[in-house]
Amino acid sequence: MTYENILTEKKNGTQYITINRASKLNALNKQTLEELNHAFTASFADAEVRTILLTGDGEKAFVAGADIAEFANFSIEEGKRLSAVGHDSVFNLIENSPKPVIAAVNGFALGGGLELAMSCHIRVASENAKMGLPEVGLGVIPGYGGTQRLAQLVGKGRALEMIMTADMVNAQEAHRIGLVNHVTTLENLITKCEEIIAKIHTKSTTAISHAIRSVNAGFVDGVNGYEVEIEEFGKCFGTADFKEGTTAFVEKRKANF
Ligand code: COA
Repeated sequence: MTYENILTEKKNGTQYITINRASKLNALNKQTLEELNHAFTASFADAEVRTILLTGDGEKAFVAGADIAEFANFSIEEGKRLSAVGHDSVFNLIENSPKPVIAAVNGFALGGGLELAMSCHIRVASENAKMGLPEVGLGVIPGYGGTQRLAQLVGKGRALEMIMTADMVNAQEAHRIGLVNHVTTLENLITKCEEIIAKIHTKSTTAISHAIRSVNAGFVDGVNGYEVEIEEFGKCFGTADFKEGTTAFVEKRKANF
């Protein structure tokens, strides 16, 4: 697939994916969502990729939301489909990525943009970042998982206030309420993400996949996260990484995963 709205680069085991529609503040139109689906799916299948870093082009926006112009005339059925397809093809896909996904939030992360950042496993924001779910101001609600993931990250009360007022929070406030893991300067944003990635790269990729599945299981209705943890824990014992990790410990050397 030839990408029009995203840039991809593979470097040192990390797949960099940059949303590249700066003239529209990287708003997520259909084409961009399809490209993201393709790039993430390809990254999962690529054995050289251990981590994925997602960011937006430019110094103003990570993603300013779903493309409002594209859905302004949608019917009820079209609206429902827009949400369902987005959930399946991008937002749940990223959340359930077997490889760690880090969002470098480099500016506005609004609506679908914040939902995209929230579907990533770790969020690092630059000091100029502004985050919010402004949908109710458009007469709609967050439809790419925002009503669920924001409440998971910051608690129900704060999530409802952010959704009902459509207020944006700045990077410091986002950090205070647990919406982002770290705040840094815009210049240092990618470096900070790469520092986290460097630590992850010294650990077992397979164990990390099992951990992602276990943590996510706790947020799925009707699934017992503890039971999933038991299963995933057991599976680790059959992996080469487990053998290497435990052998390295006994031999008092660093594990080579
Ligand atoms: N969908 C479609 N286009 C968008 C967009 C979105 N979510 N967000 C920004 N754009 C476009 C603007 O229409 C404008 O395009 P144009 O130059 O062709 O007119 C361009 O991006 C630049 O945005 P602009 O509004 O001029 O920048 P600003 O600095 O004045 O304002 C924002 C920045 C983020 C406050 C403002 O763009 C905004 O409110 N965007 C919508 C946010 C939103 O409601 N997102 C949730 C969608 S569900």
